[in-house]
Amino acid sequence: MTFENILTSFEDKVLTITLNRPEKLNALNAKTIEELHEALIEAENNKEIRAVILTGSGNKSFVAGADIAEFANFSVAQGKQLAATGHFKIFNFIENYSKPVIAAINGFALGGGLELAMCCHIRVASENAKMGLPETSLGVIPGYGGTQRLAQLVGKGKAFEMIVTADMLNAQDAYKWGLVNYVVTSEDLLTKCKEIVSKIALRSPVAVKTAIRVINAGYNHHLNGFDVEIEEFGKMFGTHDFKEGVKAFLEKRKPTFNGN
Ligand code: COA
Repeated sequence: MTFENILTSFEDKVLTITLNRPEKLNALNAKTIEELHEALIEAENNKEIRAVILTGSGNKSFVAGADIAEFANFSVAQGKQLAATGHFKIFNFIENYSKPVIAAINGFALGGGLELAMCCHIRVASENAKMGLPETSLGVIPGYGGTQRLAQLVGKGKAFEMIVTADMLNAQDAYKWGLVNYVVTSEDLLTKCKEIVSKIALRSPVAVKTAIRVINAGYNHHLNGFDVEIEEFGKMFGTHDFKEGVKAFLEKRKPTFNGN
């Protein structure tokens, strides 16, 4: 499949998706959201792909936000639809994806860009990364899950501060605040992400997928995360991967998981 605004490459069990509108600092317009959604659907069905890395083209920006020019003249109804479509196609979609998605933050991650990084399961930033939710400086609020996920990651007090001041954090502060898991040099950014994937690729696909679902259940107000954990933990005992994992341990060998 060929895309206009994203690039995809597959190597060593990982699909790397590069948002590719460098002249607009990779701002998320409707077409980019659609293409990202399609690429993720395709990758979900490919058993060879064990994880996805999301990054931005160029060395200046991961994603500098939703495309401001595109929504500049939107009505109230269109604004609501913009947020709802984004949640459905990208932000909730990635958070609930069956394979880990890692954000390789290679520069500005602002507004929708930071929201994109925050819906990923793991975040790695390069030293030059700058992160923030500047929406209040445009007279709007974060609409792609930022008001909720930022507070989950850094706590309510820091989320209030970042959103109402619209200030940017540098990579080291983002690390100290718990917003990113690692800070590395630009040269090491993808290597670090691939190193994480190399560990994921050794684990049971069905266990990894279930773990993502159960961790997310704890943040879903309609569910009790502990109850979901008990249910899903039990189901694991019926999988091939569980039987193989335990058998391999007892036989002192490496397991061969098939994801069933
Ligand atoms: N939407 C649309 N276009 C964007 C954009 C966005 N979120 N962010 C950057 N661009 C475009 C600029 O309009 C400019 O396009 P042009 O050359 O056709 O005029 C191009 O990307 C380069 O950006 P520029 O502002 O010239 O780069 P800079 O280095 O001076 O500043 C930023 C970088 C990130 C500080 C600045 O681009 C910015 O503040 N962007 C908006 C961030 C934001 O508010 N995001 C939240 C949106 S809800």
